[in-house]
Amino acid sequence: MLRGEDNTAGPGTALDGALEKLLEQARAAALHAYSPYSHFKVGAALQLSSGEIVTGANVENVSYGLTICAERSALVRAVAEFGPEIRVAAVAVANLNSAASPPCGACRQMLAEFVLPDAPVVFPAADGMRAMAFSALLPLAFEMKLK
Ligand code: THU
Repeated sequence: MLRGEDNTAGPGTALDGALEKLLEQARAAALHAYSPYSHFKVGAALQLSSGEIVTGANVENVSYGLTICAERSALVRAVAEFGPEIRVAAVAVANLNSAASPPCGACRQMLAEFVLPDAPVVFPAADGMRAMAFSALLPLAFEMKLK
């Protein structure tokens, strides 16, 4: 796995083999996107600490606001399939539009619930594929600490 806070894997830079495989699964998942409104097809693949890989795609809705992103669709699927004890060890995001698509803020906060802080997240950035630790992607996640 790629380590470090912010590794940029630009064109021609090889990603770690496991992340590359995860990215392939994210690309395959993007083929299942339901995005008749934006025409933006996103796929996500989560590697769980158990070794399982769970994918998701964005599913839009005519009301727009009910749309679920690929990352959250993968996450809810992972919990539904493997239970609430899952931990996400790596995340890959891809789209079929050759555009940048870092995980949105809502997806980062949702991932924060289950992701390991050092988990690498790989996604298409403006300057090519980028991989960074989750903790660098969402440094100040909301936590509920009641006194
Ligand atoms: N989308 C994702 O699937 N993941 C993100 O992190 C950002 C956006 C989807 C939602 C919507 O279907 C489309 O991309 C355009 O916003």
